[in-house]
Amino acid sequence: MIDLRSDTVTTPDETMREAAATADVGDDVYGEDPTVNELEARAAEAVGMEAALYVPSGTMANQIAARIHTDRGQEVVADRKSHAVKYELGGFAQLAGLQVRMIDGDRGVPTPEQFEAAYVMEDLHRPGTGLLCLENTHNARGGLAIAPDAIAAVAEAAHDRDVPVHLDGARLFNAATALDVPVTVLTDPVDSVMISLSKGLGAPIGSMLAGSAECIDRARRTRKLFGGGMRQVGIVAAPGLCALENVDDLAPDHEHARQLAEGLATVPEVTVQEPETNIVLVDVSGTGLETETVVDRLRKWDVLANPMGEMTIRFCTHRDVSREDIDRATERFEAALA
Ligand SMILES: Cc1ncc(COP(=O)(O)O)c(C=O)c1O
Repeated sequence: MIDLRSDTVTTPDETMREAAATADVGDDVYGEDPTVNELEARAAEAVGMEAALYVPSGTMANQIAARIHTDRGQEVVADRKSHAVKYELGGFAQLAGLQVRMIDGDRGVPTPEQFEAAYVMEDLHRPGTGLLCLENTHNARGGLAIAPDAIAAVAEAAHDRDVPVHLDGARLFNAATALDVPVTVLTDPVDSVMISLSKGLGAPIGSMLAGSAECIDRARRTRKLFGGGMRQVGIVAAPGLCALENVDDLAPDHEHARQLAEGLATVPEVTVQEPETNIVLVDVSGTGLETETVVDRLRKWDVLANPMGEMTIRFCTHRDVSREDIDRATERFEAALA
């Protein structure tokens, strides 16, 4: 089976398994797990923030961020296709009591003008804007690597209005790799950032929420409230430390995505969005088939991909697929459509 549904499907390698088996552990709710403490320090350093918090998932990190930066009833400004808006079960509303003001951002990022137009000043009738939420890479828009100047410009507009900025950086190291910039250039303008250890970096579990020490102190309490306070969690944090060693190792995934895109683009009935990182979006409307049908047919050829809406299929490359897998997947895609 060639599994291109997501970079979350990677399984831990031998180094990670060994690290898990031999990790020093303690009760992390008491702050006594040395492996978690090391992971939090190393993650904070990696993204250039004062402190970081280990959480079970990217979703929890984004929702903790929403909760700590805002007051109930405020508005959050976010791209219409952002993960936090589309795929987190309305968590902004359910968990932070926020109203979402959706923007069709330029490549998934609001421009300063769009932010300004969306900004709501608090008064007797209006709730006030409490947060700007950005995403890099932008998943639903095809793994777009958002350039530092786009982030800095809208973050400045938000800060001018005293609105904090959270960055969903589930694939932030993919963005830094594609843009060939230090990751801190992408995080400097924001107040908090989430990075996933369990996507392209290959860990089995976990994400990090990073920000100022004060922000992470509050996040720690909110993590407890959300049921994310864990005990001898160094067992799973240890592979997370290995994952942080992989941050400069993502270029092959991007190369495989380009290889796949080039192969699929030779099929006349489909339109392929040129990948910037490890995600390839393929519009199959020209085949006359539903995306679900194409995905089902691919499955019969032992290739897994994810439908994304009515016309688009998402393929995602990752460290568990090779160049040969990509060649095979391309051939089987043609066969599945035939
Ligand atoms: C951009 C983005 N943000 C957040 C998440 C949520 O991460 P998790 O699955 O760890 O909750 C994902 C997961 O695919 C994602 O792609």
